[in-house]
Formats: sequence, C-alpha cells, structure tokens
Amino acid sequence: MPALRKVLQGEQGLPPPLWIMRQAGRYLPEYRDIRKKFPDFMEFCLTPEALTTVTLQPIDRFDFDAAIIFCDILIIPHVLGQTVQFIEGEGPRLAKVDWPAFLEFANKKTVLSFLEPVFKAISSTRQALPSHKSLIGFCGSPWTIACYMMQGGKVGLGLADLDHDLTRSLIQTLQQHLVDFLLGQIQAGCDVIQIFDSWAVLVEPENQSEYLWQPLFFICNAIRKVHPQIPIIYYGREVSQFYPYLASHVKDLCFGLDQYTDPTWAADVVQPLAPVQGNLDPLLLVDGTFEKATDNILKTLSAEPFVFNLGHGILPQTPLDHVYRLVEQVRTFK
Ligand code: CP3
Repeated sequence: MPALRKVLQGEQGLPPPLWIMRQAGRYLPEYRDIRKKFPDFMEFCLTPEALTTVTLQPIDRFDFDAAIIFCDILIIPHVLGQTVQFIEGEGPRLAKVDWPAFLEFANKKTVLSFLEPVFKAISSTRQALPSHKSLIGFCGSPWTIACYMMQGGKVGLGLADLDHDLTRSLIQTLQQHLVDFLLGQIQAGCDVIQIFDSWAVLVEPENQSEYLWQPLFFICNAIRKVHPQIPIIYYGREVSQFYPYLASHVKDLCFGLDQYTDPTWAADVVQPLAPVQGNLDPLLLVDGTFEKATDNILKTLSAEPFVFNLGHGILPQTPLDHVYRLVEQVRTFK
C-alpha cells in the first residue's frame, strides 16, 4: 500500500510521506514549456496526454510520495456551461450567466462525459506511477466553487450582499456533480481524495453549517457509501479550529492544516482524532529560511500519523533549489 495511504489510514511512519500542494505548476520550467502550447488553460485541463505529463513532472524531479492529478477546481463550472478563462496576471475570470436558466440546465446535466479526458489522464498516470506512490484526486468544495461562480473570479469582494437563494441552489447543484466527479476519479485510479475549501473563512458563522459542513458531510457520505476505505483529506483554509467538530461528524476524515495553524495545537487537539497534513508557510520556501520551521513541524507532528506538505500551494517564484533542500530535510528526519 502506498506510504501516503497508510498514514492517512492511521499508521504512523518515519520519515513522513511528503507531497506539495500545486506541485505541478509554474515554478517548474518543464511545466512552463508545456503550458506555452495551451493559450487556453481549460483546454489544457481537458487534454489527457498533457495532464499525465505535467502530473508526473514533480514526481520525476523530486520523487514525492504522491502525485495529484493535474486539473483545476474550476473545471466543474466550466463543463456545466459557465466559461472559465485564465487571464495572465489576473487569475480566473468566469463568464456572467443567467442563473435560472443555468441552474435548470445544470441540474439536468451529467458532467461525466465532459470529464472523460481527466479520467483518461488518471488511468494512464496510474499506470506510469510506481505502486508505492499515491495518486490524489480532488475537487473544490461547493462553497469555494460557488464563490468563484457568483463573483466572476475575484473572490472576497462584495460578499456582504451575498445572494443566499442563489448560494443555496448552486451548492445543492454542485455537491451532486462533485460526488460524480470524485467517484469517477476513484474509479479511474485515484486512491486518495482531497477537498479544497480555500474560501471557507468567508462564510458567516450562522451559515457555516448549511454552506460548509452539510455539503461536506453529503460528499463524504456519498463517497464512503461506495468506497468505505478511501482516505479523504479536507483542506479548509483559515478554519482549522473547526476540525475537532468535523472529526466527530465524519469517520476517518483527514485534515490539511494551513500555515496559520499552530502545529502544537494541532498535535494536542486534532491529531488525537485524525491524521493531519501540513503546514509549512509557502513564503518560507520562497525566501529559503524554512529549515527551523520545518524542523519544528516534523518534531511536533510526526509522532502521530502525519503527512508533510505546505500550508497552501507552492508559489510560482519558488526556487527549485529550495524544494530540493526541503525534500532532503524531510526525508532524512528520524
Ligand atoms: O498540482 C496540483 O496541485 C494539481 C492541480 C491544481 C491546480 N489548481 C492547477 C492550477 C489544483 C489542486 C488546483 C486547485 C485550485 N484551483 C484551488 C484550491 C487550492 C488553492 O490554491 O487555494 C483554487 C482556489 C483554484 C482556482 C485557481 N486556479 C486560481 C485562483 C488560479 C489562478 C492562480 C494564478 O496565480 O493565476 C488557478 C490556475 C491554476 N490552477 C494554475 C495551476 C498550476 C496556474 C495556471 C497557469 O499555468 O498559469
């Protein structure tokens, strides 16, 4: 069984398994070479050969313990009919849509046939990957995706006048499609799932249960019904204080810690309940002063099931040399 999967199923191991969020991406010259051939990022995300190649690039270079299938959380709105573009230097831009018509259509549609290229990439990546390495499948949380859909890309601005009826409808629609997407990824060969909830912190406390936790439980239950053993990692940025509550509601859920979470708190409060993953500050990996923080994370968290990772995605300006040094430091930890 792959080392990552063992740890996520509760077996502690040293050195801890290691992978990096957004490990396939712009900090790699070999990624930038392929990316140049695809002016349209969503088209790139639906081209199986390119996806397989870039998914394997960080494994070839750094020998990480897991590959994460290359795609994007915004593929779901895109295949549901809300065109997603990535504008250089600006980030995602989602088309304006007529919501009643969109929802009516989206509720009738199945996303699976559109996502076939991603499943194809998963199968061929799994074949190319050594059996001791995991292949991680993923999706965004319904809330995080809905934020991008409603705000057209610039999340955070204007949430004060959130349209609650629309939010509810989008979350309802998305959660079912996300279950289909995740089940398809598992069937194609992923052995671990991660749910990215990058904008969880924007939900008002009175709406958290409805917008964040009920949809998360819905997705986890639907996956567990078909695949009782598959590890699911929930990464909620700036909401780790809720992890003990979540651990008591979803059996065997694992937790991604952001860089704002104190490792000592996580060791005392979260790790007795569930395996954790994290949480080096990506900025320390950019400036090269990560050794002390890495050592502290390793010493504090690796006595119980633990996966080394960053607290958020690796930044495009990260020097490769720093990543090599980090891998060496984690791999030689005893
Ligand atoms: O290696 C991996 O981790 C797998 C692939 C992956 C990407 N995005 C590729 C990508 C994953 C897991 C994601 C998740 C994702 N996408 C999240 C959740 C995690 C997080 O970082 O908070 C979010 C919020 C998105 C939405 C998204 N996609 C944004 C905001 C951007 C633009 C970023 C920017 O700086 O311009 C993307 C584009 C994107 N997704 C890139 C990559 C490698 C960069 C695109 C490029 O090549 O120019």
